[in-house]
Amino acid sequence: MSKNSLIYFLLWILFQLLFEVNCQMTPFKPGVINRHTTTLIDNKLYILGGKDAKDNAIPKDFFYLDVSVTFNTQNLLWLDLSNIDMVPPHYFAASVKGGANNDTLFLYGGFTVTGQTMELVYTFDSQSITWSSPPITGVNPSPIRKSELTGVNHDGKMYLWGGNTFDGTIYTFLNDMLILDTINLSWGKGSLVNVPTPRCDYGATLLPNNNIIYIGGIDSVTTGDPKTLNIVQGDALTLSEVYLYDTINDIWSTKATSGKIPSNRASFSTVLGLDGQRIIIFGGAFINPGYLDTTLYVLDLTNFSWYVPKISGKIPSPRIYHQTNVIGKYMVVSFGYGYDNTIESDILLLDISNNEEYVWTTTFDPTVPNNVLPSSTSSLPSFTSTSSPSLPSPSSLSSQNNASAVIAGAIVGSLVSGILLSFGGFFLYKWNKNKQKQKEVAQIHGNEGYYNNYNQEEMIIPTQRNIHNYNQATNNNYNHGQEIIQIPRDENTTNHEPITPASEQEQPTFTSRFRDIKVPIGNRL
Ligand SMILES: *[C@@H]1O[C@H](CO)[C@@H](O)[C@H](O)[C@H]1NC(C)=O
Ligand SMILES: *[C@@H]1O[C@H](CO)[C@@H](O)[C@H](O)[C@H]1NC(C)=O
Ligand SMILES: *[C@@H]1O[C@H](CO)[C@@H](O)[C@H](O)[C@H]1NC(C)=O
Repeated sequence: MSKNSLIYFLLWILFQLLFEVNCQMTPFKPGVINRHTTTLIDNKLYILGGKDAKDNAIPKDFFYLDVSVTFNTQNLLWLDLSNIDMVPPHYFAASVKGGANNDTLFLYGGFTVTGQTMELVYTFDSQSITWSSPPITGVNPSPIRKSELTGVNHDGKMYLWGGNTFDGTIYTFLNDMLILDTINLSWGKGSLVNVPTPRCDYGATLLPNNNIIYIGGIDSVTTGDPKTLNIVQGDALTLSEVYLYDTINDIWSTKATSGKIPSNRASFSTVLGLDGQRIIIFGGAFINPGYLDTTLYVLDLTNFSWYVPKISGKIPSPRIYHQTNVIGKYMVVSFGYGYDNTIESDILLLDISNNEEYVWTTTFDPTVPNNVLPSSTSSLPSFTSTSSPSLPSPSSLSSQNNASAVIAGAIVGSLVSGILLSFGGFFLYKWNKNKQKQKEVAQIHGNEGYYNNYNQEEMIIPTQRNIHNYNQATNNNYNHGQEIIQIPRDENTTNHEPITPASEQEQPTFTSRFRDIKVPIGNRL
């Protein structure tokens, strides 16, 4: 062995070591996602599924944020559980915390990749850290897969109202109330008397009086401007009335609203205020911003009057396809579509402890203030002991440990890099040159796709609309009693696929291709 090759060999070993150290120390970084689900169980905010920012891929991500500790939204520590995730890639599913001990994640429905089989329901046991797909008994015929809906848990039952289905050609908008008993693992159905009209992408929240409130949504294929999130073609549904489903008595009712009624909208989020007397909505795709200079509205539940709350702090850009949970005194917004994640954090925090003034903030303080009384039905987490001695490595690794490990890794890494630089400048130079070449090639591909998408001014063109209203239907056959409105297909829609090498993404499927011409906002930025 010549002297030179010995040096190269040693450098190679060092490189391998450095690479491995870096791999292990780099914290998990999710692709920016939207159309995901979030589920809060025992101080862990679990995030599952969804699509990436450019809408090219459906990442198979499963991770959580530890909300038992203080954190800053600028520096989030995600804990990755993707390696134990058995759920196929999917988006627009619904999730709740449920089960006998109220500590199991229930996932229902959602779109997946064509050709992929996906069960209707999956469960994640947060104590044993295992996924399964339990058999569920009940109604005949078996429930169908629905998407773009919100699941609400009351007393162990997961209420799955409305949403849509896609048969490969048309979307059918629904208004049936499907009920999954998460304790007895059985299906049931709710009343259709006075049920609201079919829709998806509505807001839904459980109220202290055991009613679920449903707000807004869409019932047709709608086009949006990806920059402003305004609807430019089609319409969303009105917020001048809201709908209540009484979970105890299985009764629907409608309430007219007054005050500063927000413009028609869909894909916003709703949370219950800490006093249980108001609903706070954030974001959404809406038509005609009108007097709006804010994307936050509050519905006073005592008189069903809307108002614009006083807010302070740095106002974030609006989002759609995000998720929102109340954790402690915060409304916690996660991910979504419509923001630049190099500028804005994936997590937004709105301190809602003072109804006179909500505050956008960046620091999460896990201490629940004394003046906040958790009602039995509020989604306030219990900030008691985090009792999971059996947790595997990702979560047993505490945030601080992980953070300092990362820092240590970085220091060691830069030291080793420095040594390598002085020893093997030439080698590094050559190596970098190669790497740069590869990078340039990748960016050209990315830009082609990007501009190709970006030039589509109006990306979502309806093909057919299909509304299934259970009040008009006489049985459960989903193909019965449909109103089909055919709108001529825009020829351009077929040219809108991005030019992306097939190997770089999921093979485009009919479902994923159709997403562009369907959901309220251009997906492809
Ligand atoms: C489980 O907790 C949720 C709130 O997080 C609540 O809505 C639901 O009623 C609880 N289920 C049971 C069976 O207690
Ligand atoms: C489960 O079934 C039992 C009896 O079959 C019933 O008493 C109980 O209320 C059911 N649980 C739920 C959450 O519906
Ligand atoms: C609704 O009730 C609140 C008090 O809860 C009150 O401040 C507000 O003015 C009322 N709005 C209307 C339109 O009556």
